[in-house]
Amino acid sequence: MEIIEKIKSRTAKVGVVGLGYVGLPLAVLNAKTGFSVIGFDAVAGKVERVNKGENYISDVVDAELRQVVEEKRFRATTDFSELSQCDVILICVPTPLTRNKEPDISAILSVLGQLTQHAHPNMLVVLESTTYPGTTEEVIMPALVSKGLIVGKDLFIAFSPERVDPGNKNFKTHNTFKLVGGVTDACREVSKTFYEQSIVKIFPLSSPRVAEMAKVFENVFRSVNIALVNELTMLCDRMDINVYEVIDAAATKNFGFMPFYPGPGVGGHCIPLDPYYLAWKSKEYDIHTRFIELAGEINENMPYFVVSKIQRILNQRGQCLKGARIVILGVTYKADIEDSRESPATKVMELLHKEGALLQYVDPFAPTLNLEGQRYSTQDLKPELLAGCACALILTAHSVFDYELICRHAPVVFDTRNGTRQVQHNREKIVLLST
Ligand SMILES: NC(=O)c1ccc[n+]([C@@H]2O[C@H](COP(=O)([O-])OP(=O)(O)OC[C@H]3O[C@@H](n4cnc5c(N)ncnc54)[C@H](O)[C@@H]3O)[C@@H](O)[C@H]2O)c1
Repeated sequence: MEIIEKIKSRTAKVGVVGLGYVGLPLAVLNAKTGFSVIGFDAVAGKVERVNKGENYISDVVDAELRQVVEEKRFRATTDFSELSQCDVILICVPTPLTRNKEPDISAILSVLGQLTQHAHPNMLVVLESTTYPGTTEEVIMPALVSKGLIVGKDLFIAFSPERVDPGNKNFKTHNTFKLVGGVTDACREVSKTFYEQSIVKIFPLSSPRVAEMAKVFENVFRSVNIALVNELTMLCDRMDINVYEVIDAAATKNFGFMPFYPGPGVGGHCIPLDPYYLAWKSKEYDIHTRFIELAGEINENMPYFVVSKIQRILNQRGQCLKGARIVILGVTYKADIEDSRESPATKVMELLHKEGALLQYVDPFAPTLNLEGQRYSTQDLKPELLAGCACALILTAHSVFDYELICRHAPVVFDTRNGTRQVQHNREKIVLLST
């Protein structure tokens, strides 16, 4: 097959659509592998930065991006007519939810609108964006075959979910195992051959629907287990039991248990969103995915639990939340990354603000934050900042925080992430989610 020959000889031109957390690392990896790569993005500013060799995603190595741009192996554009030059198209655009928690695949549809104009024979199109099972065959395929191309013969379509975990030190795009589900056997073969060039292990599947379902299942699994431990935490709090000791104890079992940890809620572009893609689709089949809804309900309640616990902490100290200065430590959705999307910190801060608390925050990964029309800037983590507050509230346990300093100077530390577990002194000031 011509496309397989082009892929194996690395003469195939690769188009990556959507140059964000998923697309930019993927584009750089493919350029490093030896392909000529064109990145497409709707945001001109990102395209300009890429073309200057400027990195904006922490999982991408600055020098690697600069090198592939300088060597003209990777460039970016907002001109989607250049899709016609590409042999392989990887779609990595966002798949958010509407206000009513229904799938919003408008970015995929907009890319499809461009692709239908520029698709040509001997092209591989892979959807990487997380979505509900059925999207590739029900949405992508009909739009592309309307051009008269025959799937499996001169057009190859597959779904290959992106599983990258931003900030993960061990697993990056090249060594995160990849699933591929092709619409036909030939589609599977072509997409498998393509990913084998740059990724250590590929698992071919019988259809895109299996790959789509596997991806959402992975994230439902996390959401449900996090909800379970969050619920246990609220019970432990009532019963005055340290939930971390409970988790560590359960984790001593040498089979059949996997630890998950509680927190102030779930964040990021995956766990709070993807399960609802499946819940929405399942209604078409008269199935109500109760685990998904229940997990969402428990996880979404955690910011409220955190705020009511702060009220309790202040009350015990003869203070009230209104007018109290709260220093928030960490606002990104998880430790040591710069992504604040869907961060539970935003919800906690909104609730605290509504109760009249005066907020300041410290987060070296998030220089500014817009909240309810107000712009906040990160503060330096100094003794005087902590000493003058009513409570220091740890929402994201960045490894750069000096936890000894925090516990030495803040009057009380409410630690929702167990970031202070190594602190030796002043432990009496620390309140955990469950004690
Ligand atoms: N971030 C993660 O950790 C992660 C992990 C696995 C899977 N995913 C999935 O991958 C997909 C992309 O996520 P992301 O985190 O990279 O998103 P992102 O917001 O970081 O990047 C998406 C990029 O697409 C661009 N874009 C938006 N609409 C466009 C359009 N119509 N045409 C061209 N470009 C467009 C945006 O400007 C942005 O640069 C989502 O489906 C997400 O669920 C994300």
